[in-house]
Amino acid sequence: MNRYRNGLRFALIVLLLLPVSCTSPSQSPEEAAVEEEPFGVLPSGEQVTAYTLRNDNGMEVRALNYGGIILSIRVPDAEGVFEDVTLGYDSLDTYLEESPYFGALIGRYGNRIANGQFTLNGTTYTLAKNNGPNHLHGGLKGFDKVIWNTEPFEDERGVGLVFTRTSPDGEEGYPGNLDVKVTYTLTDDNELIFDYEATTDKPTPVNLTQHTYFNLAGDDHPDILGHVLTLNADAFLPVDTTLIPTGEFRPVDGTPFDFRTPTPIGTRIDADDEQIRAGGGYDHCWVLNASGGDALTLAARLYSPESGRVMEVFTTEPGIQFYSGNFLGSTPTGRGGVNYGHRAGLALETQHFPNSPNEPNFPSTILEPGDTYRTRTVYKFSVQRNE
Ligand code: GLA
Repeated sequence: MNRYRNGLRFALIVLLLLPVSCTSPSQSPEEAAVEEEPFGVLPSGEQVTAYTLRNDNGMEVRALNYGGIILSIRVPDAEGVFEDVTLGYDSLDTYLEESPYFGALIGRYGNRIANGQFTLNGTTYTLAKNNGPNHLHGGLKGFDKVIWNTEPFEDERGVGLVFTRTSPDGEEGYPGNLDVKVTYTLTDDNELIFDYEATTDKPTPVNLTQHTYFNLAGDDHPDILGHVLTLNADAFLPVDTTLIPTGEFRPVDGTPFDFRTPTPIGTRIDADDEQIRAGGGYDHCWVLNASGGDALTLAARLYSPESGRVMEVFTTEPGIQFYSGNFLGSTPTGRGGVNYGHRAGLALETQHFPNSPNEPNFPSTILEPGDTYRTRTVYKFSVQRNE
């Protein structure tokens, strides 16, 4: 009798929990679904939730309502073996302790603004200097360190999450209340789509991006030097010693920055080159050939010969920051006890150019009231055999 009553109680609890923990309770794990579970509590008392998106092929993306952080992306290799291809941590505490923007949603301005300052319509705005003399990735408490209203959804394109938030006037020194909406969609074509939207009530710079670190050989693989990269760019932006672009558009021809044909990252990463030295490897923005239009075009292709995994990056943005993980090597222990060494992962951050608010010759990053900021980037995963 007791057992019967316990059974009934269990069934009831499961029934009560299902609609909360899973948007499609009736679906099996092979079908597209979104699940959510607690991931910890911030010192402020705010609850952090982890969402797992799963598509029909079993590809899985986990993300947090905190910083829009992508915890993991699990995709198959050429043999069908699923592994995590991103760098990340097991616990919220480690993200709070020290994270080099692992998986994070970046704003209000991705990349650097020189001397943490810009002048707009005659007013000079001062931002935090959180990277030597410069402002980086939105400041001390950027979009990567706040809780977002997060709504799971399923539609004809796939399953996903909508993150919304108003960045208040003056946040981190930026002008205007900025309403931001970012959508992550996982499709059944193994694409992860990022749609960024924003409106403002005062002119403000906006440059949103995503800072997931990838290692397509698997997250426990020591480095990304064997990955083969293609970048659809004839020019890149050389930088000064603090990684601020000098303003020059330099042709990649004849330099270690020429990735117009597929090239292993390790081949020239330590070349005797002034720009390689400035970045400690690759940490530069490439000027995409398709710059300027609204069309989604192929910016980058990353291939891991070890695993056969491929990631293509399509974007509407004019630039892509390729960061080869040069500062990695001293972060806390990573997911599953892995220590991430120097260049254990890389980031391909689609964006407008760094320091645009101070560079009249770069495409403008100023959003005006009445206009809508809209960009899209797609990471598409597949496999390739025998190259
Ligand atoms: C960006 C920068 C790098 C580095 C990382 C975070 O990608 O370009 O220089 O600051 O973020 O560690």
